[in-house]
Amino acid sequence: MAEQFDVKLVEEAKYYTPLPEYREKAWVKDYDEEYSEFLKDPEAFWGKIAKELDWFGPWDKVLDWKYPYAKWFVNGKLNITYNCLDRHVFNHRRNKVAIIWRGENGEERIFTYQMLYRQVNRFANGLKRLGIVKGDRVCIYMPMIPEQLIAMLACARIGAVHSVVFGGFGVTALNYRINDTESKVVITADIGFRRGKTIPLKTLVEEAIINAPSVERVVVLRRKEPKVEIHSGIEIDFYDLMEGVEPVCKPEVMDAEDPLFILYTSGSTGAPKGVIHTCGGYMVGTYYTSKVIFDLKEEDVYWCTADVGWVTGHSYLLYGPLAVGATIFFGEAVPDYPDAGNFWRLIQDMGITIFYTAPTAIRMFMKVGEQWPDKYDLSSLRILGSVGEPLNPEAFEWYYRVIGKDRCPIVDTWWQTETGMQMITTFVGEKMRPGFAGKGIPGVIPDVVDKHGKPVKTGTLGFLIIKNPWPAMFRTIYKNDERYRKYWETIPNVYTVGDLAVKGKDGYIMILGRADDIIIVAGHNIGTAEVESALVSHQSVAEAAVIGKPDALKGNLIKAFVILKLGEKPSDKHKLDLKYHVRMTLGPIAQPDDIEFVDKLPKTRSGKIMRRVLKAKELGIDPGDISTLED
Ligand code: WTA
Repeated sequence: MAEQFDVKLVEEAKYYTPLPEYREKAWVKDYDEEYSEFLKDPEAFWGKIAKELDWFGPWDKVLDWKYPYAKWFVNGKLNITYNCLDRHVFNHRRNKVAIIWRGENGEERIFTYQMLYRQVNRFANGLKRLGIVKGDRVCIYMPMIPEQLIAMLACARIGAVHSVVFGGFGVTALNYRINDTESKVVITADIGFRRGKTIPLKTLVEEAIINAPSVERVVVLRRKEPKVEIHSGIEIDFYDLMEGVEPVCKPEVMDAEDPLFILYTSGSTGAPKGVIHTCGGYMVGTYYTSKVIFDLKEEDVYWCTADVGWVTGHSYLLYGPLAVGATIFFGEAVPDYPDAGNFWRLIQDMGITIFYTAPTAIRMFMKVGEQWPDKYDLSSLRILGSVGEPLNPEAFEWYYRVIGKDRCPIVDTWWQTETGMQMITTFVGEKMRPGFAGKGIPGVIPDVVDKHGKPVKTGTLGFLIIKNPWPAMFRTIYKNDERYRKYWETIPNVYTVGDLAVKGKDGYIMILGRADDIIIVAGHNIGTAEVESALVSHQSVAEAAVIGKPDALKGNLIKAFVILKLGEKPSDKHKLDLKYHVRMTLGPIAQPDDIEFVDKLPKTRSGKIMRRVLKAKELGIDPGDISTLED
């Protein structure tokens, strides 16, 4: 990874300072002051924020920290949907627009808070009718449509734990997630649209549940005309489920520590990890960060382009912004379809004021040219955000100048599925430094250390860690608490993030990417282990190792090294077969870009593949310490 470490950048210290009005009007006017308030008394700090929300019963204690396990708002009672819906419906936001949605075909739908409240209540009662009770798991495999959000909120309303599976995943990935969570119900749609193509979600679900004994019912949203047939017995229509139910569903009283959802993220070894988030802390953390980092105000129209199937969609498309009472825009929108002006046209047409996207999209826009954004009026924009990978300085500058017209602050927010909420960034009134995400937000104490946990000097490469618990932190890995503990035990007493980073003299942190075995391709996290196991599941493959290869556009490409079984001869046909096989198993996002056939793989004495060595060889650089290499 060291090859990406640009010393000049660390020394240069170039800053951009937002216009003073940003600070004057911000929810948090002074980052340093807010941070000191947190440091003085972390529990009082979070307690005060939590009190801005509605609770059914008070907590006894803000934090109960028994390393490495945290309980936040101990014994507090709440329902996150009460805060996302009822709180607004029973005050001045009743008729405020909650969601503006746009389909790929141009169809538009608008939900006020009251309309959304009604739909969620009815669907929640529908789920109850299917026998779903508090604690049951429900799998949601849907396109980016309002019903997807309604399904999630309805689960949360009745205390069912949702497990949203990204609509771009294939049958095997979906089947694994259904089985691991033992989901009783799968909620899907007949089709999704992406770049003019239809994705047959329902057909994929039919295959994925063949070996999924937990599944009792499949709820199908039917978009196509004429409507697809529903298999009686197991399948039920989304809207039929809402017929004849009570219009109001009392929110389930949840303990702050009851689980809210499971979301799978790629691991370095073995199977994907089911990250567990709980109700209370997650609500407080996403509420606070949505409010102060995006500086969300009543008049804003906020657009987060992330897919709901990723954590950014959970925290910053849905829960955080709705808890704040914001107007959100979302849709079946991709950056380059029908053309490369799509995002800019939507910003103009919808009057978007806050725009949150990923560096991979920004780099794609840089490549296609300024003529696309220049065609549209982007003057409604107030704040820009970035998430998912390092925002390299060139991309920062382009985003700032071409999209923000040299006046919109950029919040480069670093966080993870596991952290649940944004952790490192700059506040809208604070100076920004291209290449650097910023500092820990109030509530978070990050540092950059060596492998023993000793802080490294400024300007030196190290591991990013977090030194304290925070409310939206994950509580465990589903059915695998050992993997949870590993995050906190790799370096004792701190949370090891798995990213490499550098700290500048000013305390700003530059994040360089994953230290371990996750490859971020066009903003999607792909576990090397998942791709390797998909490759090995092909009858002609004996062994496989997968690495990320830096790419100017997508961040990384996937390169696979494959050892074929005896008797198999390397050929182009094999390459095509294997690519297709991974595509069918894991989905198009995990398909290797390049496959190389080899006779052996570098391994440690304990038999672990040293991907670092493969990567160094691929990039023509020094692999560093190879003392553990077997051969
Ligand atoms: C990377 C997405 C640099 C990082 C919210 C992290 C970033 C992983 C940034 C988590 C950023 C996310 N700058 N790198 N602003 N944001 N990352 O779980 O490597 O999908 O560990 O969560 O994305 O990805 P995840």
